[in-house]
Amino acid sequence: MSLPTSVAIIGAGMAGISAARALDEAGITVELFDKSRGTGGRMTSKRTDHGEFDIGTQYFTARHHAFRAEVESWHEKGWVARWQPRLCRIDEQGIHPSDDEQDRYVGSPRMTALSRGLLGNLTLHGSVRITRLEQHDQSWMLIDSEEGQYGPFDRVIVATPAPQAAPLLAAAPQLARAAEQMAMEPGWAVSIGFDQPLNIDVDAAFVRTGPLDWICANHSKPGRAENCNWVLQSTPQWAQQHLDTPPAEVAGLLLHALGEALQTPLPPAQLLQAHRWLYARPAEDCDWGALAAPDLGLYACGDWCLAGRLEGAWLSGRHAAQAVLGHH
Ligand code: FAD
Ligand code: NAI
Repeated sequence: MSLPTSVAIIGAGMAGISAARALDEAGITVELFDKSRGTGGRMTSKRTDHGEFDIGTQYFTARHHAFRAEVESWHEKGWVARWQPRLCRIDEQGIHPSDDEQDRYVGSPRMTALSRGLLGNLTLHGSVRITRLEQHDQSWMLIDSEEGQYGPFDRVIVATPAPQAAPLLAAAPQLARAAEQMAMEPGWAVSIGFDQPLNIDVDAAFVRTGPLDWICANHSKPGRAENCNWVLQSTPQWAQQHLDTPPAEVAGLLLHALGEALQTPLPPAQLLQAHRWLYARPAEDCDWGALAAPDLGLYACGDWCLAGRLEGAWLSGRHAAQAVLGHH
């Protein structure tokens, strides 16, 4: 099969951008489309009048040798920095220091600095929600929610969360079925701006009791403003039970849970906001790498094709690019 000259990628999260860069390096013209204005997907930072908050990906680790080498290059470019929080584990017995040797990285000075750096000069069509794909004479047209048309493209990579990928993959029923069957779990993230520092020796904690899963002092990450900003994340189970609870109520409940977890009175919150992630993480890991229907020129990638971590998304994007290039 001949190499494509143009590839459309739907989704400019880590998986889509990873695929885009690999194809661009191979000399292929790529165009990215995202329903959000910018890049990053679930690796995002929210701007508020109390500073910025990382409300998606909190940090990432690198285990696969290819990803380790990639992260090293990001580090050299200054897009990411190592983060060495005072880590704890919180359970019914209380707060336990739980420092370890794991290298953890964050985008610097905010999570989206990484996706912006990776995007570089690649073409991104932001605020474009693709609703369907049409194939004409071996090439693809992308149609958006306003009936705008983009194309033609030789190949299309769908790099959205599984439930959003399934309808776009309708032309390849096997791929659509795989995406439909991959359940993704929800999560609530709460941003809190306190008016003074908390009186504790904890930067972040894995929580093993109550509705919280993770708490983190955003300002403990390199490059962030000094405002006392915390991010809380719920367990998927709690989010499932509170999917339709109003955000203000969720924010209040999780703020209360923070006080309980830290066993300390909290100062007044100047900012309190909740964000619901309907598709926060795949319910399980798998070993697909990426999905491919080469005869149609249709591909899919995302963390749900491997593992629900930033590394899984990056590796999956690479797998999709390899499949487009005909390497398996
Ligand atoms: P996404 O980042 O979801 O990108 C998909 C993109 O597709 C999005 O930008 C979306 O806007 C776009 N899109 C969807 N539908 C359409 C459409 N129809 N048209 C156009 N665009 C569309 N991982 C870690 O490694 N460490 C962590 O600490 C961590 N914490 C997390 C905390 C939270 C709250 C969440 C939600 C996730 C966390 N993760 C973490 C997981 C990590 O964020 C994901 O694994 C990774 O970002 C997924 O990347 P992706 O490219 O597969 O998908
Ligand atoms: P990691 O190796 O730091 O953590 C993996 C898991 O090991 C943690 O969730 C925690 O349970 C445990 N752990 C690690 N270090 C610990 C310590 N020092 N003390 C106590 N427990 C410790 O990171 P990895 O494997 O890269 O995972 C990424 C993180 O992303 C995880 O924390 C995961 O829960 C989180 N995540 C959150 C999502 C959400 O929606 N909230 C979605 C996807 C991932």
